[in-house]
Amino acid sequence: MIRSEQIEPCAAAEHSGAWARRHVLDIEDFSVPEIELVMQTTSAMKEILSRPLKKVPALRGKTVVTLFYEASTRTRGSFEMAAKHLSADVVNMTAQASSVTKGESLINTLNTIEAIGADIIIMRHPLSGAHYCAAPHVKANLVNAGDGWHAHPTQALLDLYTILNRKGRIAGLKVVIVGDVKHSRVAHSNIWCLTKMGANVVVCGPPTLLPEGLKTAQLLFPGIGVETNIEKAVKDADVVMELRLQKERMQSGLLPGLRDFIAGYQLDSKRLALTKPDSIVMHPGPVNEDVELAADVLHGGRSVVNDQVTNGVAVRMAILYLLAGSREQ
Ligand code: CP
Repeated sequence: MIRSEQIEPCAAAEHSGAWARRHVLDIEDFSVPEIELVMQTTSAMKEILSRPLKKVPALRGKTVVTLFYEASTRTRGSFEMAAKHLSADVVNMTAQASSVTKGESLINTLNTIEAIGADIIIMRHPLSGAHYCAAPHVKANLVNAGDGWHAHPTQALLDLYTILNRKGRIAGLKVVIVGDVKHSRVAHSNIWCLTKMGANVVVCGPPTLLPEGLKTAQLLFPGIGVETNIEKAVKDADVVMELRLQKERMQSGLLPGLRDFIAGYQLDSKRLALTKPDSIVMHPGPVNEDVELAADVLHGGRSVVNDQVTNGVAVRMAILYLLAGSREQ
């Protein structure tokens, strides 16, 4: 267990036994003890964030670079805040405003950022698997802030923390993930993380937005259910997590129209009433208000959407802290 008073420069070495990870590329390969260590470290970070002076010197002298090839508000902003709370220097880069626009390759861009002095690189990329291609070529710690449809590991960790914080446990909870599961890196990482921690995950959406592979995945993960009817899916749920509807799915013919999606898959107060009385409502953001979530549900008492964003800072502080410790070894 890491306590907040232990979070000083290089104290990260104390967790060396439980954390040997140089990069965070995915959540699939995290062990249960590693996930538990991230949760415990996040709690220590939350304590720091509750202080009047929300700063510790743990990453003093380190440089964190965020490199985003796609738009982001939450992930980029919270990584920047997290790094600053830990006293790191932060440089923000976007593909649009970098030499990527002049044709520089991904690997050469990363090596250039390292040459500038990056110790930790936080990268979002539209291509699934981009981080796996890049990792062997970089000496800095690399963190996946979202790659294509594939993975968004820190989102899954902050979602897990948010559920744990509200429910006190994960094992045995019914967690329903609704919407465009097929194209959602958030859904994929949450399915891996939540099933690993013992939740009963049900995915729900129109058949065109559910991966065929999930039928097979049910064999691998006995906890996973697949349901196209939202009323059946959310019945007695502990957690309902709606996903952002990506408008391009309608253009590509995977959905007949917005009105059909709302009629079939929006979480409104009538559907929320089918869940457990103490259920919580989640959404990774950005939310299309009154599409995935009815406005009164999004802003209602069961919604933990803002908690997810707040917890994102603490989870990302934990990840940066643990990675910085791995570089000390
Ligand atoms: N949840 C999420 O990844 O949001 P951003 O795209 O704003 O980072």
